[in-house]
Amino acid sequence: MLAIRLLAEPDRLDTLVLPICPGQGDDAPARPVPTGTVLPDGVAEEAIALPPVARLTGRPGEVHAQLRPGRDPGRLLLLGVGEGDEAAWRTAGAALARATKDETRVTLAMPADAAPAAVRGLVEGLLLASYRFRMTDAGPTPALAGVDVVVADPDAHTAAIEVARTTARMTRFARDLTNTPSSVKNPEWFAGQVAAAAVDVPDLHLRVREPAELAAEGFGGILAVGGGSASTPRLVELDWRPAGARTHVVLVGKGITFDTGGISIKPRASMKLMRKDMAGAAAVVATTLGAAALRLPVRVTALAPLAENMPSGSAFRPGDVIRHYGGTTSENTNSDAEGRLVLADALAYAVAELEPDLLVDLATLTGANAVALGKRTGALYSENDGLATDVLAAIGAAGEAAWRMPLPDDYVEYLGSELADLHSSPDRGAGSVTAALFLREFTGGLRDRWLHVDMSAPSWAEGDDAELTRGATGWGVRSLLRWLGSLG
Ligand code: BES
Ligand code: MN
Ligand code: ZN
Repeated sequence: MLAIRLLAEPDRLDTLVLPICPGQGDDAPARPVPTGTVLPDGVAEEAIALPPVARLTGRPGEVHAQLRPGRDPGRLLLLGVGEGDEAAWRTAGAALARATKDETRVTLAMPADAAPAAVRGLVEGLLLASYRFRMTDAGPTPALAGVDVVVADPDAHTAAIEVARTTARMTRFARDLTNTPSSVKNPEWFAGQVAAAAVDVPDLHLRVREPAELAAEGFGGILAVGGGSASTPRLVELDWRPAGARTHVVLVGKGITFDTGGISIKPRASMKLMRKDMAGAAAVVATTLGAAALRLPVRVTALAPLAENMPSGSAFRPGDVIRHYGGTTSENTNSDAEGRLVLADALAYAVAELEPDLLVDLATLTGANAVALGKRTGALYSENDGLATDVLAAIGAAGEAAWRMPLPDDYVEYLGSELADLHSSPDRGAGSVTAALFLREFTGGLRDRWLHVDMSAPSWAEGDDAELTRGATGWGVRSLLRWLGSLG
């Protein structure tokens, strides 16, 4: 990971990055932001006076390079930071990482009055945009190795940078898990990755249930969905339990390590990215590791039901009835609606055994998420207005996006079954909404303290874009860590 140092004074000036912001008034050219760093004489004035700098706007993420052969600094980079808020700095940090990937080290002079939030945005932008996932024996791709950030008072930013580093590191961990091909990433491997990350962290406890334990305790949804695969299912339970915590949040994440659709097999175009179908599980596990790393004073338990949905002689069939944890039965006519079946077990288990105050689940649950809301925005469901407002605020502040959707009681009748307690995949009804209503049936007495996000769409990016890189986005880690940080 790119090394970031906070310094009170620069100790090298090969490449100097100077922030610029929009000028005042229409058509006014961008202007340099006063930096409080002692710069070589006239550098700031010279930078902004040179053509075509007058055409710069100062919008976040704008980058303009100037070479100054034979002089110090030898290269100036003007970096647009807009209004200088956290989101603008996140975009600027991402643009800086991309513009400097052929350099080794650059020095950035922060504005004299930079707030900790600006440093947090910058650091998250740098660390997230410089992420790469590759599986090859070829050497590493060229990338910026370090950024020296010059601020008036480095101590004032220590906490912000620590939060930003941990947030970015855990988002990158979630991206790694999600990008990993499913030939590697079976449920056992995923659980092993969690175990390796959790080792030696005080107050962090891991339990991994294997198939025999899942059967003994009645996790029928996880076993049915995982039954068609040569790689057996697991249930990961990762518990951050700090002394004195007054709030207990349980985070459940869908962990389908590959979704073929099962016997109701998917067409090939719909299947090619289905290694990402465990992005919810990756996000909740990474968030919990982040809560432990930051020692947040909240108890957080991540539950990741892990299974591979394959068609085979031992796969569950359309028409099968599944008995979920706790005894509720579901009729299944489409084995491609597998996510809700594993989540149902985990939710019912959390409600029965873990006594959460708040219950949140993240899942790449339906293609309908993108149909309704496009590629960037998760579909958020909750009956609890306060919880929905708080989580939406955290999502927005973190730079992610979700939109609140309804849980209409009119549609509950679609879940009716003659054969079982519930029908998991009725032909009628909106896809993402019906799935949420199905999950709600497993939240018992926590129904009004539950929140669900269908994050199928924003879990993946088709190309590099600001702090997102092509492939897995790690959606949810930033938002959940921010939300947990706001609980006390
Ligand atoms: N994993 C898919 C949902 C998905 C689709 C995630 C596209 C990301 C991108 C899920 O298991 C699924 O297959 N959902 C079905 C539900 C249907 C069978 C009721 C869907 O969305 O078509
Ligand atoms: Mn499916
Ligand atoms: Zn799925």
